[in-house]
Amino acid sequence: MTRELESLTKKILVCEECHLKLGRTQVVPGIYGPQKSICIVGEAPGYYEDQQGFPFVGKSGELLDNMLKGIGLTREKNVSILNVIKCRPTTENGQNRTPTDSELRFCGERWLEMQLSLLSPKLIVTLGGIALKFFIPSGKVTQLAGQLVKFDELNHIFVTYHPAYILRKKTLEMMEEYNSHFEQILSLYQSETLEQDFNQVTERDEQASKKTNQKSLKDFL
Ligand code: URA
Repeated sequence: MTRELESLTKKILVCEECHLKLGRTQVVPGIYGPQKSICIVGEAPGYYEDQQGFPFVGKSGELLDNMLKGIGLTREKNVSILNVIKCRPTTENGQNRTPTDSELRFCGERWLEMQLSLLSPKLIVTLGGIALKFFIPSGKVTQLAGQLVKFDELNHIFVTYHPAYILRKKTLEMMEEYNSHFEQILSLYQSETLEQDFNQVTERDEQASKKTNQKSLKDFL
């Protein structure tokens, strides 16, 4: 971790800038992989993340790790895993809840954007509709899933589903589509130039994804 990232993370860990501090056990800043690699961005910590202090450690995290393993990557070595929001949003009776638009903007602009600028990822991957909304407010996962989308002059996001959505759906088709998204992520990550290579990625990946399907399907369906 660079000095800048370390000092930013120290600030995130003691953030008291909004009311989400009231419902949290601890702040979940995220975990960092190498600079100029892949940043996976989720929504916000849930119960288990809030307890343990790390992103995606529940069932969703298990699926995410398995998807990464399917393309030869691990959270320990290759990718950063962040959330737009760093503290668990809770209802009055302590359940997880969806963050509001203003919570998303407030926390994302304060911390996620700084993390991204220090990590300078080659590729940002958004998991689910809430993370997508932060980058593209009118974006719909149903329309953009599996696509590389430019969200400002320089930066792209690859849009895919939240693992919790795949776990809820539990269909063969969804799992196959999810596998093909991760194959696309790998190809984009390995490509010289994101945009130029992207059109070729889809076809190649249909072949590649068939290889990894079985492993993930057995575990998760
Ligand atoms: N869901 C998210 O979006 N992020 C987490 O860290 C865990 C579950």
